[in-house]
Amino acid sequence: MNKSVICIVVSLAMFVSVGWAASAPQLPKGYHAWQKSERKVVTDKSSLFYGIHYMYADKKAIKGYQAGNKFREGSRIVVEFFNIKGTPSVDGPINMIVLMQKDKRQKDTGGWLFAGYSADGRPSGIDPLKNCFECHRQEAGQRDYVISTIKDFTR
Ligand code: HEC
Repeated sequence: MNKSVICIVVSLAMFVSVGWAASAPQLPKGYHAWQKSERKVVTDKSSLFYGIHYMYADKKAIKGYQAGNKFREGSRIVVEFFNIKGTPSVDGPINMIVLMQKDKRQKDTGGWLFAGYSADGRPSGIDPLKNCFECHRQEAGQRDYVISTIKDFTR
C-alpha cells in the first residue's frame, strides 16, 4: 500500500469512529478505578433495577456530589448491573452498563449524555429521552437529574 492510500484509510477510520462517538461514546476506559458506591441490591422483580448494581463516579462527579448534586461539564458516572443468581448475596453475571456524562450540547436531556451498553460494552442503541431522561427528570429534577447522592459513595 502506498502512503496516500494508508492516509485515506486512516482518516476514514477516524471519521467513522468520531461519527460513532457523537451518538454513543465508548465506555470510559478505566472506570473501575473511579470511586465506587456501596453494593445495591433490588429484589423487587417489578423494578427496572431488579438485581445488583454498583455505581462508579469520576473525580469531577464526586466533587459534584459533594456540592449537593451540582455537576461540572465532563463529569461521568457509570452503573454496572448484575443478575441475581440464586442468593442475592452473590453477584450473578453482568447484564447491562449505563453512563451519564455531563455534556452541555445535550439540551433535550438536561445537559447530560445518557447511554446504555450491553454486558460486553457495546452501545445498545437506546433512546436517551424516552428510556432514560424522563425517569431521571421525575426522580431528580431538582438535583441535576442525578438520583444518587454523596451518601451512596461514603462506604
Ligand atoms: C424508571 C426509572 C429509571 C430509568 C428509566 C433510568 N434510570 Fe438511571 N437511575 C434510576 C435510579 C432510581 C437510580 C439510582 C440508583 C441508586 O441510587 O442506587 C439511577 C441511577 C443512574 C445513574 C447513576 C447516577 C444517578 O442518577 O444516580 C446513571 C449513570 C443512570 N441511572 C443512567 C441511566 C441511563 C443511561 C438510562 C437509560 C438507559 C437510565 N438511567 C434509565 C432510575 C432510572
